[in-house]
Amino acid sequence: MTRIAIFASGSGSNAENIIRYFSDNKNVKVVLVLSNQPCSGVLIRAQLHKIPTFIFTKDDLNERTKVHDVLKDYNASMIVLAGFLLKIPLYMIEAYPNSILNIHPALLPKYGGKGMYGMNVHTAVVENNEQKSGITIHYVNENYDEGAIIFQATCDIDEHDLPEDVKTKVQALELHHFPSVIESIIP
Ligand code: GAR
Repeated sequence: MTRIAIFASGSGSNAENIIRYFSDNKNVKVVLVLSNQPCSGVLIRAQLHKIPTFIFTKDDLNERTKVHDVLKDYNASMIVLAGFLLKIPLYMIEAYPNSILNIHPALLPKYGGKGMYGMNVHTAVVENNEQKSGITIHYVNENYDEGAIIFQATCDIDEHDLPEDVKTKVQALELHHFPSVIESIIP
């Protein structure tokens, strides 16, 4: 049984989609949702699906035991970052080798790195007159958005698209692909 812990800081549309996707799966289960944002929508969504939640601070994450002990309590075997904005510390990467996945709302290696999240990404994409954007699902390593790429999907950007329009297209790709890509790497 693969036991997934989802880390998220935002509204949680990806987290909820993953929870739904695996809800009837006998081999894969979302066991915990963790957030560094006490008021984030993801916590409400998790509670609606009766998934336990855990709130922590940046310091808790960087300190070696607090968050890790909770993951151990829930016997989590895979971590999925679904709109999580803090850097994952090295001890965590070493504790979950090749088992931490992130989704990024652009075609890495472009538009990645510190500060590149959510609307910042879509605004930069439009300002640079890109004709395509998309999603990247990748393993997490010690550098922001630099782990090995597992999957990418693209969308076209029209001449008059605003950052909000790009967001809508990228979100559709995320909801369509993220759960099945997670499933595809489960042994
Ligand atoms: C998603 O678009 C995800 O790709 C992005 O945050 C959004 C979260 O939306 N992640 C990053 O920008 C990470 N650098 P959600 O809370 O509705 O799932």
